Amino acid sequence: MNKNIFISQIIPKNAKKLLKDNGFSVVENDSYHPLSREEFAGRSETADGVISLLSDKIDAMVIERMKNCKVIANYAAGYNNIDVLFAKERGIVVTNTPDVLTEATADLTLCIILSLARRLPEAERFLRERKFSGWQSDLFLGLELSEATVGIVGAGRIGEAVAKRLSAFGCRLLYFSRKQNVSMEKNFQAIQVALEELMARSDVVTIHMPLNAETRNLLNAGLLHRMKPTAYLVNTSRGEVLDENALIEHLREKKIGGAGFDVFTNEPNLDTRLFELPNTILLPHIGSATTAARERMAALAAENVIAVLSGKAPITPV
Ligand code: GLV
Ligand code: GLV
Repeated sequence: MNKNIFISQIIPKNAKKLLKDNGFSVVENDSYHPLSREEFAGRSETADGVISLLSDKIDAMVIERMKNCKVIANYAAGYNNIDVLFAKERGIVVTNTPDVLTEATADLTLCIILSLARRLPEAERFLRERKFSGWQSDLFLGLELSEATVGIVGAGRIGEAVAKRLSAFGCRLLYFSRKQNVSMEKNFQAIQVALEELMARSDVVTIHMPLNAETRNLLNAGLLHRMKPTAYLVNTSRGEVLDENALIEHLREKKIGGAGFDVFTNEPNLDTRLFELPNTILLPHIGSATTAARERMAALAAENVIAVLSGKAPITPV
C-alpha cells in the first residue's frame, strides 16, 4: 500500500507533485487556517508523514495520536510549534526548512530598517493626505545608515545575511551570539559584544534568534530600557523573543524612535495597542514570502518526507 502523507494547510503545489511522483498518497487540508489540535490529531492519526506549518501546535497530545508517523516536516525555519523532544522519544524525525528562506527574510529585514530610518510609511501617508506643500529643508529627516550602528541579535544564517546587506550600506555592525561568527567578523567587520552593550550602542537593533527556552523573553524590559531614545527595534524572528508588552509601553512613551514588527506574541490576534503606535511598521509575518522561497520551502519539506520514508537520512533535521 502507498504511504500516506498529510499536508496540514495549503502550501505551493510542487510539494504534492514531488510526493506523488515518488509514489506517495497525499491528503491535504484545503485551507489557509490551522486545524484545531483535536482535528489535526484526527487527520494525522494514520499518516506515515506530516507536513505542518508554524501555526499548527503539535504538542505531546497530538504526537501521541500519530500511530504510523515517521516524520513531521515543518514548512518553516522555526520549529517552536513542535514538541521536538517528545517526537524524538516516539521515533518521529522532525525537519525544518532552513537556508532556503535566508535571503528572503534578510531582504524583508532591510526593507523594514530602511523604511524606519527614512520614515517611509509616515512620509507616504503625509503625501496621500494632500499635505505636501513643497520641498522643505527639514521635511521627514531620518537616519543615515552609513552613519548608523546596527546591532544584530543572533548570528545564524539570517543574521549573517542581514550583516552582508548592512555592510554594503556602510553601517557599523555589532552582534550578539553565544558563538563567535568568524565569517561575520572577517567579511563584514562585525564586532561581538554583550547584549547589554549592543542594546545601549545601537541605532537599530534587529533580532534573528530562533525561539527556544533560552531565547524566550531574551530582550526583557531591562534590556529594552537600555536602548537609545532615537533607536529602532526590528523583529522578523518570533514575537516571544522579546517582552512585547514592555516594548509597546516604550513606544507609547516615546522612549525609543520606533519599531518594525513582522512577528507577534499572539498571532494573528495582535495586542490592539499596536495599531495605535506611532513610528511603527506592522507586517503580517511575511519574512519568507517570496515566490521562490516558498516554493523551495515546499520542495524541501517534501524531500525530507521522501528521504525519511525511504529509509534515508533527513536533509534538514532539527
Ligand atoms: C517563518 O517564520 C519560519 O520560521 O519559516
Ligand atoms: C535559521 O534557520 C537561519 O537561517 O538563521
